[in-house]
Amino acid sequence: MLAVVESCSTKGVEGFLVQVEVDVSPGLPGFYICGLPDTAVKESKDRVRAAIKNSGFDFPMQRITVNLAPADIKKVGSQFDLPIAIGILAATEQISMENLKNKFFVGELSLKGELRKAHGILPMAQSISNLYQNSVFVVPPENSFEASLADNVTVIAPETLNDLVSFLNNKKDISPVKTDIESLFSKNAMVYPDFSEVKGQETAKRALEIAAAGGHHVLMVGSPGSGKTMLAKRLPGIFPPMHAEEAFEITKIYSVAGLIDPETPLITQRPFRAPHHTASSSSIIGGGQIPRPGEISLATYGILFMDELPEFRRDVIEALRQPLEEKKITISRASATITFPANFTLVAAMNPCPCGFFLDEDNDCMCTPFQIQRYMNKVSGPIMDRIDIHIEVPKLKYKDIKNDKTGETSEKIRKRVTAARNIQRKRYKDLDIKCNGELEGKMVYQFCKTTSEANKLLEKIFDKLKISMRAHNKILKVARTIADLENKSNIDVEHIAEAVQLRFLDRANY
Ligand SMILES: Nc1ncnc2c1ncn2[C@@H]1O[C@H](COP(=O)(O)OP(=O)(O)OP(=O)(O)O)[C@@H](O)[C@H]1O
Ligand SMILES: [Mg+2]
Repeated sequence: MLAVVESCSTKGVEGFLVQVEVDVSPGLPGFYICGLPDTAVKESKDRVRAAIKNSGFDFPMQRITVNLAPADIKKVGSQFDLPIAIGILAATEQISMENLKNKFFVGELSLKGELRKAHGILPMAQSISNLYQNSVFVVPPENSFEASLADNVTVIAPETLNDLVSFLNNKKDISPVKTDIESLFSKNAMVYPDFSEVKGQETAKRALEIAAAGGHHVLMVGSPGSGKTMLAKRLPGIFPPMHAEEAFEITKIYSVAGLIDPETPLITQRPFRAPHHTASSSSIIGGGQIPRPGEISLATYGILFMDELPEFRRDVIEALRQPLEEKKITISRASATITFPANFTLVAAMNPCPCGFFLDEDNDCMCTPFQIQRYMNKVSGPIMDRIDIHIEVPKLKYKDIKNDKTGETSEKIRKRVTAARNIQRKRYKDLDIKCNGELEGKMVYQFCKTTSEANKLLEKIFDKLKISMRAHNKILKVARTIADLENKSNIDVEHIAEAVQLRFLDRANY
């Protein structure tokens, strides 16, 4: 007999429906799976056989053929165990086929018949809710809260195959799982370290406020122990709160990567990802035989912190070009070409030279000019072109350390940043961008209007400092953000002057 069970899978961060067709017919006993299964799906056979037997049901000694449709898309992971088991039980009339209507099944099975968690549940639940009204989505208990984030889907999360079969045969009731999304936003309150703990470093703090307000990428250059890492870790705390649509989009990426906490399924805090410089290109960019999201995708709507930037592998730095420009990354493998979002703010830190003390007042630097140049060249070019703000983080003065005055709290700075971001959201509401950092090409001139005095200053700087056209545009973008922080519609002299101060490497005499 033939049974058809509805299931789901993911491609990139989107879900798609899969029909699991199970045919059980007389013949030599055998179990075959077709429809481009990967190794984990092929291994399903052994788990499903054991789970069915150990749950007290009959496993047919006949020829079983399973087809996963559409047959031309690669099927990945162990989550087809459950629909295959249900298909076999339905095809052998141990479950009524009538009761499978409008139900979708996803989950791995243990040999005892317990349901184990799967990856990518939120995108799957959303694809079901987009296509069908009032469907039932059967998932493992660990995925239940995540699945219930989608509208219009009733989520059932049985512990075991046995419970599920009793439910499907109307012998047992399982109550649907519900999540209060509002409460998730209030529960996961911000827990970032606070800016008030940073002594001195007023210029650096101001630069980070501007970076957060306009979504600009930042590079901090300074000697060891000057506080670069400390400052970067406090940056997510001054970013504006996440909007619901951003929270869902980032949760989808974490869901596909299998990084969702079952208790707090919705990611409501901006991610802060700080990969180590020895990390491989596939862990940072994304990849693997079956492409998975990398650090740049996991940092979407948050911060990617690359500490000790020149120490990262050259191929990793080069590979950042596309995501920095297009806010997404496309990974091509023999099995599939997949696009993941990668819309992050890059914060990088580095020393000014291999020993780290080149910029110190009591310059103890022993590096040769050639060594310094080689060190800086590791990051110049592809990535420097895309960074709007570069600042020096100098060593603290003793009077700053002894100063007991506490600085501004992150909360206070965050209010100003949020106000500036709201102005930008309004300004760019008809465009595909959200903040000044994303302005490109002729949009820069359209939206960065200067007063005549500001124009004169910019002209002087352009001629005197011999800056490039690209640097000129970056100064305009950053000045736009500084003007937004003051709620001014036009860019004035002081905004341009401050923006130029935030282009340290254009001025530094390397
Ligand atoms: N401005 C500051 N206010 C308070 N503490 C500071 C400040 N700067 C540095 N520190 C202290 O010094 C420690 C080292 O700072 P941090 O790790 O941020 O330096 P770094 O610039 O990243 O150095 P490296 O180049 O070696 O990575 C911090 O953990 C912090 O305790
Ligand atoms: Mg550091």
